Amino acid sequence: MTPSLMHFRPARNWMNDPNGLVFHGGRYHLYFQYNPEGATHGFMSWGHSSSTDLVRWEEHPVAIRYTDEHEIFSGSVVFDEHDTSGLGAAGTPPLVAVFTLADQVARHQAQGIASSLDGGRSWRLYEGNPVLDRGSADFRDPKVFRYSGPAGEYWVMVAVEAVERRVVLYRSDDLKTWAYLSDYGPRGATGGVWECPDLFPLAVDGDPSEVRWVLLISLNPGGIAGGSGTQYVIGFFDGVRFVADEPIPPAAPGEGWENSRVQLEACDWLDHGRDFYAGVTFSGLPDEERILVAWMSNWDYAGLLPVDVGSPQRGAMALARRLSLVRADGRVRLRQEAIGPEVATIVARADVRAEGPVELIGELPDRCRIDVCVRLDGADGFDLNLGDTSIVGYSAAEGILWLDRRLAADTMPDGFASIEQVRIGAHGRIELVIWLDRDAIEVFASGGTRTITDLLPERDDAGASIAGRGGSVLIERFEVGAVRDLVSTGSSADMKGQTA
Ligand code: FRU
Repeated sequence: MTPSLMHFRPARNWMNDPNGLVFHGGRYHLYFQYNPEGATHGFMSWGHSSSTDLVRWEEHPVAIRYTDEHEIFSGSVVFDEHDTSGLGAAGTPPLVAVFTLADQVARHQAQGIASSLDGGRSWRLYEGNPVLDRGSADFRDPKVFRYSGPAGEYWVMVAVEAVERRVVLYRSDDLKTWAYLSDYGPRGATGGVWECPDLFPLAVDGDPSEVRWVLLISLNPGGIAGGSGTQYVIGFFDGVRFVADEPIPPAAPGEGWENSRVQLEACDWLDHGRDFYAGVTFSGLPDEERILVAWMSNWDYAGLLPVDVGSPQRGAMALARRLSLVRADGRVRLRQEAIGPEVATIVARADVRAEGPVELIGELPDRCRIDVCVRLDGADGFDLNLGDTSIVGYSAAEGILWLDRRLAADTMPDGFASIEQVRIGAHGRIELVIWLDRDAIEVFASGGTRTITDLLPERDDAGASIAGRGGSVLIERFEVGAVRDLVSTGSSADMKGQTA
């Protein structure tokens, strides 16, 4: 695949989950599951990149490397400002990474830590590892945050017993000794192992007197679109226990529960596409600023995606997203807004009426943002064709928005051809924000409370057209903003150089 500048990917080799997201020293650090030895999953280590704007990423040397005994699986980073861990040096509090030490031979997973005194560039494994061991084969993906509330002030770890479909919570005063708090699940979607949890507070509609906690649970397979997906649950965390706001039907594995579309739709999903997984949020930002990064792939076929033989590479991140909570359709929902690159408008059209297919732009840029607002003017819906690799469609009668990427899927691995859908209700007017890369698409609908993210077969130069379904539509707005050239920063040995 052609390297893309809109979505972060390392210059070479394999990447999956985002790890250790932390804003520190004026930079956003993005560590990630990385194989320094090749373009398939293995020898898992933490790769590293950083950015000042979440858009232009600079890749750094591998941060935490696999050892003879362990691979370094997913986890998080916190700034231990008061040196509670004692891993700092005179005057320099440490960054502490908390991750899963995965022994693939002995089938054992426990949590370990490492510290950095140079702002996240180099890391030292703690001699006392592991710091938390349940004797489990599937205990992983610790996300640590600082809790401060009526129950006190301490570190909280949210991790999973993946196969049991349980989120487990622990507390610590020093990041080295951990005491059990509570657990959550199995509940909601349980058709696959639970992975990469996150738990954080957000104010509903920005009102600080109405704070809710959001629990993210990635699961694989069993996602709403098939394969990997991420459900979210809104509730309350009192420093010990997370309690969901709404009664979610208890899971009944083995009774076909996990396979029922109706039941899956009863859960809330971070994204309704095939390629948005293991998303977690940054630490080091104020509570009201919640920014998430997710891996843009799906375990169903991630290891089979075509690679460029010259510099084999697999895996990309979706655009960073700003999260907020809003009251919509009588309930509290997550709203997501992409933090995308700057764009320059190249086409802006208004009041175009379409029944049969009407061309909206002759050639789409390689990477662009598309803002579209369609009014149903006799039609039941529309088909918006984007560059011959994807169709975004809507039907008011069904109240469904969909993304069809089957068009050119014959160049892709088995199981890739798919059509994704999300229920958005019946509306006379649909507004979408779409970020389109050469080989990926992120669709934001209903003010960002519904999103669909998919990888796409690589696009040839082609334009966009729209057709009404069973009548005419009025395109009130169609605006294409081309992403300005981002200078590729490649790899660098240190973090001093700023991206251009
Ligand atoms: C999720 C995951 C995690 C694990 C990591 C291994 O995609 O399976 O549970 O820590 O990937 O690379």
